Amino acid sequence: MYNCSLIKFKDITDKYGHLTPIEGKIDIPFEIKRVYYITGVGQGVVRGFHSHRKLHQVLICLNGSVKIRTKNPEDEELTELNDPSVGLYIGPHVWREMFDFTEGSVLLVLASENYSEDDYIRNYDFYLEEAIKIYR
Ligand code: TYD
Repeated sequence: MYNCSLIKFKDITDKYGHLTPIEGKIDIPFEIKRVYYITGVGQGVVRGFHSHRKLHQVLICLNGSVKIRTKNPEDEELTELNDPSVGLYIGPHVWREMFDFTEGSVLLVLASENYSEDDYIRNYDFYLEEAIKIYR
């Protein structure tokens, strides 16, 4: 799907456990400017409902699992993240919704820019209006 792909990271496993290194511009396609994580999401809660104009992100479920619905004017995909050595890259102009967070799940997000509310498109109709010009 356009501007959306799974990235498999290194999983360094030994008798002491697992270690996954992630380096900006090496393991993911951008320099990391911001990190945030989502925890404590209750049953039935759906988050997201937005796209970004410039932001690139990689979502990694460090514990438990979460489902991500990604959409553009032509396509829709459902991804379940449940492996801390796998990331979902989401680039600009992709609508996303996150749901079915399991109890204790931790969703880590690596982002290419500092937080800016101006970069969000939070209305689906406005998103379609802007995205149609990009996808055609
Ligand atoms: P939002 O991105 O809408 O969360 P989600 O897509 O997971 O539902 O952000 C929720 C709130 O947190 C919103 O008021 C903006 C704020 N926020 C920050 O202040 N800094 C950040 O880096 C992020 C991602 C959100």
